Amino acid sequence: MTMDPKYQKKVKLNDGHFIPVLGFGTFAPPEVPKSEALEVTKFAIEVGFRHIDCAYLYQNEEQVGQAIRSKIADGTVKREDIFYTSKVWSTFLRPELVRPALEKSLKDLQLEYVDLYIIHHPVALVPGEAIFPTDENGKPIFDSVDLCRTWEALEKCKDAGLTKSIGVSNFNHKQLEKILNKPGLKYKPVCNQVECHPYLNQSKLLEFCKSHDIVLVAYGALGAQRTLQWMNPNFPFLLEDPVLSAIAKKHKQTPALVALRYQIQRGVVVLAKSYNKKRIKENIQVFDFELTPEDMKAIDGLNSNIRYYDFQQAVDHPEYPYSEEY
Ligand SMILES: NC(=O)c1ccc[n+]([C@@H]2O[C@H](COP(=O)([O-])OP(=O)(O)OC[C@H]3O[C@@H](n4cnc5c(N)ncnc54)[C@H](OP(=O)(O)O)[C@@H]3O)[C@@H](O)[C@H]2O)c1
Repeated sequence: MTMDPKYQKKVKLNDGHFIPVLGFGTFAPPEVPKSEALEVTKFAIEVGFRHIDCAYLYQNEEQVGQAIRSKIADGTVKREDIFYTSKVWSTFLRPELVRPALEKSLKDLQLEYVDLYIIHHPVALVPGEAIFPTDENGKPIFDSVDLCRTWEALEKCKDAGLTKSIGVSNFNHKQLEKILNKPGLKYKPVCNQVECHPYLNQSKLLEFCKSHDIVLVAYGALGAQRTLQWMNPNFPFLLEDPVLSAIAKKHKQTPALVALRYQIQRGVVVLAKSYNKKRIKENIQVFDFELTPEDMKAIDGLNSNIRYYDFQQAVDHPEYPYSEEY
């Protein structure tokens, strides 16, 4: 298959590697059969996605890895055409647990390396078998970890060649600063992956990241997965927003495409999750049109501090990131 080069648009990370500006989100709720992750990831690669966002937490790295390997085996892509992200989960933030966690992901994936390994969330949870360790009252059991030590363990993973780049996710600017100001810092985070969409446009965090040459990667860019039990059902549906709908209509596009295009035009790398082939194919069309400065301004005006994924259960943890303004 020959690939239109516009689908490969990439930006340079601060360590010299390149990240495709559009990524495929692979997280699906537990009730979705894992075999679907295999099918949709293969399809996403076929239609042109080259950046795949996954994580140990999603419990589907085996299937996503299989999809990548099958698309390499059939000649659609080479390994170096794919940008694969994994994340170290909160129960593995003690420094001695980071490399084994990455090695477990690589084993599940059956890959030699990942392109990007990031701290999934700054809130550490107690190590053990459980992904969400909870006490008898259902409250999460926290762990206390110095994130600078976790970061040093990630630096070692990069030096060992297990990952090309390292970064963070769900960090506020103070947590980023702590890493950036760490004595003896060897590598800066290349990215901070955070919830970002027109209702939570993260303009201050984006400005901070840009000033430090850190790429902001947007998740929940289409308004997040409303089916998840922990999501507040009273929040408005992003893709039903009248301003987005009017702009979409004007460009003969969909609100989803406008929401994705908005991020790319403001210098944000954007993830789009879909397990539906029609919508996966639609999302790659983000490169086929352009928003005007007036459109961008109107979308900026929708910012209303709506955070779909607020991880309220962790609000008492000293590293809970969302109490800071940005
Ligand atoms: N770092 C973190 O803490 C974190 C947190 C959350 C997510 N993420 C990552 O970011 C990815 C994306 O975020 P997200 O999972 O919240 O979802 P999202 O990208 O905001 O998508 C939300 C929903 O939009 C629907 N959709 C997709 N394309 C559409 C279109 N063209 N028109 C209408 N609806 C469309 C999808 O449903 P269908 O499947 O039915 O199409 C999907 O469930 C995740 O999969 C994961 O990789 C990371």
